[in-house]
Amino acid sequence: MGSRLRWRIGAGLVALVALAFVVNVALDIASRRRLGVTRVIAVDPLELPTDADSIAWGRHLAKSVLACGHCHGDDLGGGEVIDGPPGKVYAPNITSGAGSVTTSFSTSDWVRVIRHGVKNDGAGALIMPSKDYVNLSERDLACLIAYVGQARAVNRATQGIELSPLGRFLVVIGQLPIEAEAIDHTTPLPASPDRESAVAYGAYLVSVSCEGCHKRDLTGGSMRGLPPGIPNPADITRTALSGWSEADFARAIGTGQRPDGVMLNAFMPYRSFATMTPAEVAAIWAYIQSR
Ligand code: HEC
Ligand code: HEC
Repeated sequence: MGSRLRWRIGAGLVALVALAFVVNVALDIASRRRLGVTRVIAVDPLELPTDADSIAWGRHLAKSVLACGHCHGDDLGGGEVIDGPPGKVYAPNITSGAGSVTTSFSTSDWVRVIRHGVKNDGAGALIMPSKDYVNLSERDLACLIAYVGQARAVNRATQGIELSPLGRFLVVIGQLPIEAEAIDHTTPLPASPDRESAVAYGAYLVSVSCEGCHKRDLTGGSMRGLPPGIPNPADITRTALSGWSEADFARAIGTGQRPDGVMLNAFMPYRSFATMTPAEVAAIWAYIQSR
């Protein structure tokens, strides 16, 4: 190799490394700017129930319907959400144990992060699906918070979030979502849904636990924040599921098994939905059929 050519390759490498450095710094600044936006949210006062039935109901919501454990771990002691090329995103320990981020939470702090996607330092929470949870009725939200505030203490250090340059790039272009950006923070606390009407109750359940992934119109498709290698959420409109019976549907969302025997990817939270009540599953089915 002539020394001139070697010199050119050397200069090219230096330029590449310099470029990578500049891009990295730019991504760091741009993503910090987005992640660092703080919001002051006026939180509606909420009275928490203390009776055993309400707390049991809150547990059912957290565990089965809203799938908090899908990200925060079944014991709510914290869990992995993404560990791959974008870096690491762990949902924190939200019990009262050592390593939890919620030990000094007031009711307003809980409301702010669940409904508004805003953490208690005012920054937007990454990936936490508050765009769905903002639809929770006042009573359901109160029961949920009453339960999580006294869930069994788990001592586990919170691992937090460490983004790679790719992850920071995804934050900058909005592919790792900060849902606080997309929520109307003036939405009043909704009244309780009509549980007598299966269609109305199904619409409510879908709004708090399916829309974030399957979209408002339930057609699914590409989704922000989808970890690499995970299939797109399916089209679950009546037309798309036209060959399915109600029993097929109940089996798919409760065990992950499709009518053709193929198992759904576990990113679909069927392990949590397994303990939804038959009435809840029937209501969701009735709503899908009604559209
Ligand atoms: C799809 C994953 C996912 C689900 C489901 C989820 N969370 Fe989170 N949650 C996260 C992530 C990730 C964070 C950390 C966000 C950050 O630090 O930017 C978080 C943060 C939190 C925090 C800490 C806020 C703070 O001030 O630091 C609380 C409390 C919380 N979530 C409660 C809940 C509850 C209650 C539910 C169920 C109703 C729930 N989460 C469901 C992913 C999720
Ligand atoms: C965290 C994201 C997420 C949430 C929340 C979610 N799903 Fe899914 N769902 C998926 C993904 C991803 C798939 C595709 C899985 C696959 O192809 O292996 C899927 C597939 C399905 C399927 C299978 C459809 C088919 O044709 O194979 C049904 C039915 C379904 N979801 C219903 C629901 C219902 C009902 C809810 C709310 C109670 C819900 N899902 C909530 C991510 C989600």
